[in-house]
Amino acid sequence: AKHLLGIEHLGPDEITTLLDLADQYVTLNRQPNKHSDVLAGLTQINMFFENSTRTQASFELAGKRLGADVMNMAMQASSVKKGETLIDTAMTLNAMHPDLLVVRHPHSGAVNLLAEKVNCAVLNAGDGKHEHPTQALLDALTIRRAKGRLHRLNIAICGDIAHSRVARSNLLLLGKMENRIRLIGPSTLMPSQIGEFGVEVYDDMRQGLQGVDVVMMLRLQKERMDGGFIPSEREYYHRYGLDAAKLSYAAADAIVMHPGPMNRGVEIDGTLADDINRSVIQEQVEMGVAVRMAAMDLLARSRTATPREVLT
Ligand code: CP
Repeated sequence: AKHLLGIEHLGPDEITTLLDLADQYVTLNRQPNKHSDVLAGLTQINMFFENSTRTQASFELAGKRLGADVMNMAMQASSVKKGETLIDTAMTLNAMHPDLLVVRHPHSGAVNLLAEKVNCAVLNAGDGKHEHPTQALLDALTIRRAKGRLHRLNIAICGDIAHSRVARSNLLLLGKMENRIRLIGPSTLMPSQIGEFGVEVYDDMRQGLQGVDVVMMLRLQKERMDGGFIPSEREYYHRYGLDAAKLSYAAADAIVMHPGPMNRGVEIDGTLADDINRSVIQEQVEMGVAVRMAAMDLLARSRTATPREVLT
C-alpha cells in the first residue's frame, strides 16, 4: 500500500501481517536498547491540526526508535494561522521531500484529500468522524494478545458511536476479522446508517454486555456534537458508564478497553479503569507505539522494496 488512510481498504491478511510485525516491535520496545535503523535516512513530518497526547507522542517515538528524522509541525504557530490552506501547507512541506507524513485533522476526508497532493506516504492519525486506523490496529493487537485470537469474539463497543472515528475504524477491522459486534448506547448517539455494518444494537448496558469477551468504552465527543443533544454527564454515567456492576454481565474474563482520553465518572468508573485485572488501557497505549512502528516500517518497505530485519 502507498498510504494508511483507513481500515476500509485493508484486507484480513494485511491486518494480520501488520499485527505480526507489531508484535516484534513490542519485543524491541521492551528491550533496554529500543533502537533500529529501519527508517534511517527517511524524514517523517507529524502534522496535528487537532489536539492529541497518545497518537502524537507514539508516532514521534515510533519514528525516532526506527531511526527516522522526525519533525513535529507546531500547527498553532504555522502559516495556517495566516490563512494558508491545508493543501498549500501540505504541498509546501512536500517540496522538502519528506518520506512519511502523519496527519490528524478535525474534518472527515481531509487526510485523504491531502494524500492525493503529495508524493510521500501519508498516515491518517484521525480525521473528524471518519477513521483512526492506527487506533483500531492497536486495539486489535491488544485484543489478540489478551484473548489469544482476533476472530469469533463477542465485542461490545459502548457510548458515543455516532461521533467516533475510533468506533468506525474498529467496526470495520473487527468485522473483517469475523467477530460478533454489539453497539451499546443511546439512540441519539448511534449513527443513522448503522444497518450497513451488520451489528446488533442495544440501548441497555446490562442486556448488551451479556457474555461479551471485550468491552470497548468511548468518550462523549462533545466537540463534534455541533450544538446537537448533549446528555447530562450524571444521567449518562448512571445509564451508560461502565462500573463493576454493569461489567458483571460480561464474561468473567472480559477485558475493558478505552482509547483515551477518558473522562472518569462519565463513561467509565475510575477504579475500574485502573484495575489491572480487567482493564487493558495501559496495554493499548503500549501497543500504540509498536503498531505505528509497524505501519511506518511497512509503508517504507513498500516504497523501497528492500526489507530489513527488525530484531537483530
Ligand atoms: N486515542 C487517541 O487518539 O488519543 P489522543 O487524542 O490523545 O491521540
